[in-house]
Amino acid sequence: MTSSITLGRRRMLSLAAVSATVFAAPALWTRPARAFDHPALPYDDSALEPVISAHTVGLHYGRHHAGYFRNLNRLTEGTALAELSLEEAVQASSGIPSLQPVFNNAGQAWNHVVYWDQFVPGGPSAPEGRLAGMIDETFGDLETFKEQFVSTAGSVFGSGWAWLTYHAGQLWLEGLRNADNPLAHGRTALIGIDVWEHAYYLDYENRRGEHVRAVLDSLINWSVVADRLPS
Ligand SMILES: [Fe+2]
Repeated sequence: MTSSITLGRRRMLSLAAVSATVFAAPALWTRPARAFDHPALPYDDSALEPVISAHTVGLHYGRHHAGYFRNLNRLTEGTALAELSLEEAVQASSGIPSLQPVFNNAGQAWNHVVYWDQFVPGGPSAPEGRLAGMIDETFGDLETFKEQFVSTAGSVFGSGWAWLTYHAGQLWLEGLRNADNPLAHGRTALIGIDVWEHAYYLDYENRRGEHVRAVLDSLINWSVVADRLPS
């Protein structure tokens, strides 16, 4: 698996065209389904220990993440949405009340690919080069960045995600609820840490902040994150 967060079939369909075909051409709903593929986990379940246990990784990837893909395929089977890449499915379903179940599952399917991919072992343990400079410029230093990231994660009420994003030439920290993600808002996801309880409760119980801090300190492959930064 590469560090790219771009997935799935690449269809040259504009989002406007997608929305038009979904709602204006019922005949397209009879198209054969093309399954959204659940990417393989790019390391063993035990690779993130001791920060995240093999038990948690196994459940999180094998049940939760797999379930989002299974639901997405069920919800889009035979529709024009099944013709899209995963990114396009997220964008096409965002903000449309009738497609909220599709967005929930497409969003979570995509969010977790961002999540697993940023933990590929072997990269630098701290940001380097341009990304390091941007973090220092935005937050002051790496320690302050981590503290603010943990604070952002703690501010998410209930289930959701804490994100480091890039938009309008700057870095941002964002806490988003449930399946919501930067992609749906036209922003670039650099780091996404899952703060749904299934991500940490078996290992950290209710200590969300401790979990997020440990992930930032020990699991982030900063080369993967730097590759996500637009040039
Ligand atoms: Fe999750």
